[in-house]
Amino acid sequence: MQKAIGIFDSGIGGLTVLKEIIAKLPREHTIYLGDTARVPYGIRSPETVTRYSFENTRFLLRQEIKMLVVACNTASAVSLNAVKKEFPLPIIGVLGPGARAAASATKTGTVGVIGTEATIGSGAYEQAIKKIDPAITVHSLPCPLFVPLAEEGWTDNDVAALVAEKYLARLRGSGIDTLVLGCTHYPLLKGVINKAMGNGITLIDSAFETAKEVAEVLDKLRWNRPGGGAVMRKYFVTDSPSRFEKVGKLFLKDANLTAEQVKVGGV
Ligand code: DGL
Repeated sequence: MQKAIGIFDSGIGGLTVLKEIIAKLPREHTIYLGDTARVPYGIRSPETVTRYSFENTRFLLRQEIKMLVVACNTASAVSLNAVKKEFPLPIIGVLGPGARAAASATKTGTVGVIGTEATIGSGAYEQAIKKIDPAITVHSLPCPLFVPLAEEGWTDNDVAALVAEKYLARLRGSGIDTLVLGCTHYPLLKGVINKAMGNGITLIDSAFETAKEVAEVLDKLRWNRPGGGAVMRKYFVTDSPSRFEKVGKLFLKDANLTAEQVKVGGV
């Protein structure tokens, strides 16, 4: 099928998910919407995030997409079920793939999950993991400062290391052998998170796991785009595109990346 995969996130963080999707499915057209005017979602109420998710989805549906990826962990945690009920197309969140990977990776039966306040407050990761295996113990921890650190590009300096050390001290000694990076931005801080947790902890990157699931679903439906012709990469943002374009060009190594500012819902 020629139609694109639609992806939305609260801002630039979902580019970690897009990057994995491009790596896994380089021939697929992609349309990315970053809700940069309303970021962060991680500190907002479930009702507000759900309204944003609906508005983002309606916008992407107007672009004729064949599948929707909710790349934002917060939006996946609090609104995925509602979005799935409302819109009739294949919809993949980042939470399920991460939860499944964690459940199959753990040997001790004890898993850690880190994410925004809204994601952790929702208990959605814990529920998803326990649904797979009720015997698994889940320790959840919000790490809100990781988002601004990643946005600032401070992903592997002394400040990032100190913040990781301070947050994650609470998870050390808890018996976890697997840690879910339950936020779009956290894979960028893998190095300091790894160091703070010490050896022997498997980090689950939801972005990577989600791309795997997108590929599986497309295969199953036989909706893959046949080869040939130029691949389309479209980017929309709800605030001024300049910062998004700067970060996107570097992160995706695409010097020609441009984004268009659009109105989504009430923005
Ligand atoms: N995209 C969000 C997430 O994955 C992080 C940034 C935000 O709070 O909006 O939870």
